Amino acid sequence: MNNQASAVNLQGGVAVITGAAAGIGEALAREAALQLGMKVVLADIDEAGLARVAADLSAQGASLLTVATDVADAASMERLAAKTREHFGSVRLLVNNAGIETLGFSWEIPTAQWEKILGINVHGVVNGVNAFAPAMLDSGQPCVIANMSSIAGISIAPIQASYVMSKHAVLAFSECLHLEMQMKSANVQISAVLPGPVKTQIFECIEEQLDTVAAEHRQQMMALLDTNGMSAEAAAQTILQQLSAGKFWVSTHPEMTQMMAEQRARHLSSLATPALDMESAFEADA
Ligand SMILES: NC(=O)c1ccc[n+]([C@@H]2O[C@H](COP(=O)([O-])OP(=O)(O)OC[C@H]3O[C@@H](n4cnc5c(N)ncnc54)[C@H](O)[C@@H]3O)[C@@H](O)[C@H]2O)c1
Repeated sequence: MNNQASAVNLQGGVAVITGAAAGIGEALAREAALQLGMKVVLADIDEAGLARVAADLSAQGASLLTVATDVADAASMERLAAKTREHFGSVRLLVNNAGIETLGFSWEIPTAQWEKILGINVHGVVNGVNAFAPAMLDSGQPCVIANMSSIAGISIAPIQASYVMSKHAVLAFSECLHLEMQMKSANVQISAVLPGPVKTQIFECIEEQLDTVAAEHRQQMMALLDTNGMSAEAAAQTILQQLSAGKFWVSTHPEMTQMMAEQRARHLSSLATPALDMESAFEADA
């Protein structure tokens, strides 16, 4: 597998990170600003969270811009791109990181909730690319677009269908985008980030009322992240190292990713019927 493109020097460049008010996005912003000396644009729908992260990073000397942004709204992402351009100029790194979880039997999840998760997890990434890629292509400078898929992007699991589906979509989108950049001989590196379990509040943040099955699933997932999850700081460090090294496939848990990829490949090549005893992505690490 050729996973290596030419390296992009992120040091000192401009980074735009969506979902930067918490979890992996916040950790990426911290690492980019404090360790790589990047000028960082923090984008999130949570304005109070943005203010908290920005105050802390500014106090440590970081060069920042915060923009309240709803990634699901194309106009909001266009505003983010315009403000970034005005304030900092060309973007070296865009991380389409914002994402949410939803749990429940697929047919019981209300339409509005399906639209919400697909709006953020899938359209949010597409909106990011549409808003930032044209200027990146025009600049001709080496730069990176990293899209947040998941180990769930190469596996299947019940009760998480909408999330799993959204992460498969982000991975397929990123692969197609990479080919399109090749067709253009563009200097824009596309990377698909497939984190394994990372200790964040993603399951606590589910706003919808959960039935018993979904609530139990949430408890299991929260316990799993709590006991087996990597810290967001460690995840951010390894993600940024792999992005800098020019990798398309970016993983916080390389061995787990390899195992899940092989399992998925076996499943597809044998055209096996999905079975409940197939390990799900996160259970594999438990
Ligand atoms: N935590 C894990 O184990 C894990 C594993 C694989 C992939 N991921 C992916 O990593 C990304 C970050 O997840 P996390 O675990 O840090 O979650 P998190 O809940 O800790 O943080 C997500 C951030 O996204 C923001 N956000 C939500 N909706 C938004 C919107 N419409 N517009 C802008 N911002 C919005 C939230 O306010 C929050 O600050 C997600 O895409 C998630 O699917 C996480």
